[in-house]
Amino acid sequence: MKIMVVGGGGREHAIIKKLKENKDVTEIYALPGNGGIAKDATCVDIGAKDIEKIVEFAVSNGIDYAVVAPDDPLVLGAVDALEKKGIPCFGPRANAAIIEGSKVFSKNLMKKYGIPTAAYEVFDDMDAALAYLESAPIPTVIKADGLALGKGVIIAMTRDEARDAVHSMMKDKVFGASGDHIVIEEFLSGPEVSVLSFTDGKTIMPMVSSMDHKRAGDNDTGLNTGGMGTVAPNPYYTPEIAERCMQEIFLPTVAAMNAEGRTFKGCLYFGLMLTENGPKVIEYNCRFGDPETQVVLPLLESDLLTIMQATTNGTLADCPVEFAEGNACCVIMASKGYPTHYEKGFAMTIPGEIANNVYVAGAAIKDGTLVTNGGRVLGATAVADTLENAIDSAYAMVKQIHFENAYYRNDIGQRALCAKEK
Ligand code: AMP
Ligand code: GLY
Repeated sequence: MKIMVVGGGGREHAIIKKLKENKDVTEIYALPGNGGIAKDATCVDIGAKDIEKIVEFAVSNGIDYAVVAPDDPLVLGAVDALEKKGIPCFGPRANAAIIEGSKVFSKNLMKKYGIPTAAYEVFDDMDAALAYLESAPIPTVIKADGLALGKGVIIAMTRDEARDAVHSMMKDKVFGASGDHIVIEEFLSGPEVSVLSFTDGKTIMPMVSSMDHKRAGDNDTGLNTGGMGTVAPNPYYTPEIAERCMQEIFLPTVAAMNAEGRTFKGCLYFGLMLTENGPKVIEYNCRFGDPETQVVLPLLESDLLTIMQATTNGTLADCPVEFAEGNACCVIMASKGYPTHYEKGFAMTIPGEIANNVYVAGAAIKDGTLVTNGGRVLGATAVADTLENAIDSAYAMVKQIHFENAYYRNDIGQRALCAKEK
């Protein structure tokens, strides 16, 4: 089978490595992939948002199955366009990807179907938003409507910060048209859990839970990033909470999307907060998380391609989705300065013995050498019997990987360890 994976980050590298375990897979193409992915797939210089070229490539190369991993092409309708040409795909159609593409859509969906989430108001007029803020409880959370590369969320600790956020989104348009509509929502607190799930629109199979570390600095300080590391499973996510999430959040979300005529097939990501009043949805994503995938897929014991095809064919109920008992830890190595300004182009060395556990996110090949080419450069993942051992092994790998200006957090997994000790 010839497989095409759209995307080019650490998440896609993890997906590709797992797909390669299936013996029927003869060829994997990554569009565009990256210099590190090139060891495991044939990289093709077509951008993940270039739907027309993606479809053209798939048709002319006889692709048997396509995996569309990032949010942008999903929201832009890559799956719809590929399906029109008869190419089976993993991922939701555009009318379902809107669950991530529009915060206004997802908040209204949750309200309509009674799915627990932070209380909120939607505004398309700046004066109305500012008037509302005069008496809104502080802290408050302000979110731009559309995809904003994960940066469209501002937690305002004071009323002035809240006003500034509204101005920058609605007047200065720092997130472009995403700021035409904003959501102002209740500030929630509690441990956060990421739950990725497979769904074919009828059955939903949650994967092992995970915990992201979004801030750039140790002890959760500094700017928000795409994610600096992950562990799985998430110790806060007990079997009781999992059952409650299934009944109150996961099944109702699948049913709500069906009722709206927007059946969701693919990976539905639940960003949850475990509040004093029960689990609530912070965000939905229409795709695998990054770097959650880099700890979740290494624990998957069942065959990924078989599961993906079952979500496409609507046969997920009959498909085994089994995870190993152990723990996984992924430490992201980034370029110093990420998520703002950083330099690229430094030669990287990854010893061969550990290369199989390294998922490359931002690298290119220059004159035959692997060089850094992004903010997040790679993730090193270890799987072990205990969380302590997984953390130790992941950091032992990080110490063996070298490139100039490398930066990583030193405390990935510590929050989870503390939770376990309680
Ligand atoms: P999002 O891009 O929606 O995942 O938001 C980024 C981060 O902002 C989340 O991971 C949370 O840590 C935080 N956040 C989002 N919404 C809320 C909320 N209503 N209350 C508290 N924190 C939030
Ligand atoms: N790691 C968070 C995300 O993928 O959205």
